[in-house]
Amino acid sequence: MSPPAERRPGLRVGALAGAALAGLVARDLRQRQHAIIRNFPVVGHFRYWLEAVGPELRQYIVTSNDEERPFSRDQRRWVYASSKREINTFGFGTDNEMEVIDSLVVFKHSPFPELPPAKGSPGAPPDYRLAAGKVLGGAHGRRRAFRPASLVNVSGMSYGSLSPVAVEALNRGAALAGCLHNTGEGGLAPAHQHGGELIHQIGTGYFGCRDDGGRFSLDRLQERIAEAPVRAIEIKLSQGAKPGLGGLLPAAKVTPEIARIRGVPAGRDCASPAFHSAFGDVDGLIDFVERIADATGLPVGVKSAVGDLGFWETLATRMAATGGGPDFVTVDGGEGGTGAAPLTFSDHVSLPFKVAMSRVYPMFAQAGLAEDVVFIGAGRLGFPDSALTALALGCDMINVGREAMLAIGCIQAQRCHTDKCPTGVATQNRWLMRGLDPELKSARAANYVVGLRSELQSLARACGARHPALIDAGRIEVVGARYSSTPFHDVFGYSADWPVVSAARRAEVEGLVGAPAPPQPPGPGAGEQAGFPGAGDPTRRHQDVRGMGEAASGAG
Ligand SMILES: Cc1cc2nc3c(=O)[nH]c(=O)nc-3n(C[C@H](O)[C@H](O)[C@H](O)COP(=O)(O)O)c2cc1C
Ligand code: SF4
Repeated sequence: MSPPAERRPGLRVGALAGAALAGLVARDLRQRQHAIIRNFPVVGHFRYWLEAVGPELRQYIVTSNDEERPFSRDQRRWVYASSKREINTFGFGTDNEMEVIDSLVVFKHSPFPELPPAKGSPGAPPDYRLAAGKVLGGAHGRRRAFRPASLVNVSGMSYGSLSPVAVEALNRGAALAGCLHNTGEGGLAPAHQHGGELIHQIGTGYFGCRDDGGRFSLDRLQERIAEAPVRAIEIKLSQGAKPGLGGLLPAAKVTPEIARIRGVPAGRDCASPAFHSAFGDVDGLIDFVERIADATGLPVGVKSAVGDLGFWETLATRMAATGGGPDFVTVDGGEGGTGAAPLTFSDHVSLPFKVAMSRVYPMFAQAGLAEDVVFIGAGRLGFPDSALTALALGCDMINVGREAMLAIGCIQAQRCHTDKCPTGVATQNRWLMRGLDPELKSARAANYVVGLRSELQSLARACGARHPALIDAGRIEVVGARYSSTPFHDVFGYSADWPVVSAARRAEVEGLVGAPAPPQPPGPGAGEQAGFPGAGDPTRRHQDVRGMGEAASGAG
């Protein structure tokens, strides 16, 4: 027979605790002071406890929504929500101290915004097609010149620094979104061949297009082009995160397959030189471009970070004099990403994107080449505001690198150089790669690119431009310290007519977006015209991208 309850101390304590809890619940439900405690009896107290110790916690564990770099928490949530086709709006207003931030780019909206294009026409949902404002290779009459179907494209990230499944996800995503996928300097791999059209990058290692002595081979390049849907060639001179240096793929990432594609020994560090052996000056570069363009018919461009301005001045001058040279110039900002680089080079070498672009563009504009060269920008431009700013500086297209990595699951753990990437994006470790499903993540990559195109268009329309390439830079100001504000043109030393858009090209670009639909009455059908792309679509969830929805809108 068991002893009576009063003789069992455990039971007595349990009964007392239960009664206290019931009392607390009753009190919480009755009180009216604190809504959270009333709605969430007992648990709600944790909120106040957390609030009390919040500053200490924040100091050690949590940072604010606009801290964390290279991408703030807000930026990452925006990418995660967009990549899942969730409605990615934020509530309650900005948490930026707008009057305190220095160099805050502000777009001055129009009282009469442009209307979005009618259903089924270019620029309309669901794919928000947004073709580039120039024809790649058009000015030089290349045989395979074309107008890129998407102004937003996937930046070069080499096969090797990214896992095969990540490259596959990006390539499939590019096919779904109708954008271009740059191979990066690691050569063309089977993972690049899942339907997405390619820009084949040629780095100093000439991976995939080198002869047995390691020199550039036009024949090998032609073989690669015949194997895959390559639409253009990009000669990489340098990269913002490690300008003046070559590339390094750490030994742990040099698998037998990568070794085969690159033509190097497996399991050993794979370093590529800091300079090209195929040319050594600007005239040599122009000849190299022309040689490849003649042989392949493809548009050929260069990618570079911006350091020595003399190079750019000579390039623009010699291009104007010879009528040849790159069809496109990709300017990579010093804030750009990499698989691995020395910290000093990432932190202190080459100009950040806005400064870089605003130094390069004027040289081409003054040489009369502004409309002949297609300008592509990269360096944290995968957000509507930074993309539109890049276009106002003269870019025709933007490339997204790490933002596309976020879309396919990267959590910004910044271990890309260790082969221990926890999300399978930047590793060659089979176990870690297992978690990344390329089919599922391809949809995420595509959704992100499409989401960016849609918000970029809606931001441009709010500023009175039908196509983002027609943004009037006069609508932008840069707000600075002590309540100062300076017109965009003055900040960057631009002439009033830059970026140059001739009347003929303006008409052409306007024609790239469909004619507006008649104004919609308020209701589910008006989401697009209200500037909330996707609203009214019953399949799309509203996602709280701050606060409680965090888990749901996180990566993965
Ligand atoms: C993992 C990784 C690998 C990269 N590999 C290359 C490469 O092979 N060639 C290249 O030109 N740039 C490379 N980049 C740079 C990107 O293409 C891009 O220019 C840069 O990250 C800026 O864009 P983002 O801010 O959108 O990432 C790489 C970047 C990352 C993060
Ligand atoms: S999760 Fe971390 S290690 Fe992996 S790609 Fe992203 S930043 Fe690099």
